[in-house]
Amino acid sequence: MSPAAAATPILKASHLLGIEGLSVGEITALLDLGDEYVALGRAKEKKSPLLKGRTVINLFFEASTRTQSSFELAGKRLGADVMNMSVRTSSVSKGETLIDTATTLNAMRPDILIVRHQDSGAAEMLARKLDCCVVNAGDGSHEHPTQALLDALTIRRRRRSFEELTVAICGDVAHSRVARSNIHLLSKMGARVRLVAPRTLLPADAARFGVEIFTDMREGLKGVDIVMMLRLQTERMTGAFIPSMREYFRFWGLDREKLAYAKPGALVMHPGPMNRGVEIDSAVADDIEVSLIHEQVEMGVAIRMAVLDALSRGLAQQGRNTP
Ligand code: CP
Repeated sequence: MSPAAAATPILKASHLLGIEGLSVGEITALLDLGDEYVALGRAKEKKSPLLKGRTVINLFFEASTRTQSSFELAGKRLGADVMNMSVRTSSVSKGETLIDTATTLNAMRPDILIVRHQDSGAAEMLARKLDCCVVNAGDGSHEHPTQALLDALTIRRRRRSFEELTVAICGDVAHSRVARSNIHLLSKMGARVRLVAPRTLLPADAARFGVEIFTDMREGLKGVDIVMMLRLQTERMTGAFIPSMREYFRFWGLDREKLAYAKPGALVMHPGPMNRGVEIDSAVADDIEVSLIHEQVEMGVAIRMAVLDALSRGLAQQGRNTP
């Protein structure tokens, strides 16, 4: 990348809190940058010194495999110092609050804080209080912007034009931040979005998204290009939303029989972690002809490099600690 290209601003805001506030231009620029980082990730020499001198802190109050490790790898590949805060062994276990924990870390002068928290709005609250960049790595059932961006990069590399696509987002939409971020992103980019879920797992305000809604999976999958399955988020459920796991799989689990209703050549996505035999059958999840699940993980590192790069450009523009 030329020095001039590396200085081009990408994001208007200093933080990445959600997809809802991003423009089509910002999303496209992040995806274009993501493509460049896919190429870097596939090269023998995977490192760039772009974030040399910057400090990135991962602060995860909820479990994560993909998001935390890919942000760590993304930061390290860009030459930043990356610190993973272990919340379980931190003073949070002694009762320290989110804001006290975050302001303590902020006093160590990080450039970028990546936060995952069980409460919707947590990342936005920190962005208002701290003077570093804040990235939302998932807040309650609100948004998970880098997941939607990596999903979009995965789709765009396979299908090119969002305008010609119908995407079915299936399963536990009610509790899913992945669903919300993907609804915003895919709709902005011109794709037709369907929500396919039992009534109990649709958000009360589903109609406000302006997407098609199906409460029969076979009907909802008819003719779609992409089937995006969601994890059943039992940790966010406070009642009985489904009769049983076995019943859920029978009616809502993606197997070859239900997938056959989608367009021939339809592709299957899942953000992970998967509940095999609950929302997806292993025969579909592990079929490399249709499943993009491992590709999504690769795109996760690239898109998170793009996000860190974009935020660092914003810091440089403000004259803050230019590396
Ligand atoms: N998709 C996703 O956010 O996965 P993790 O919970 O493993 O980060």
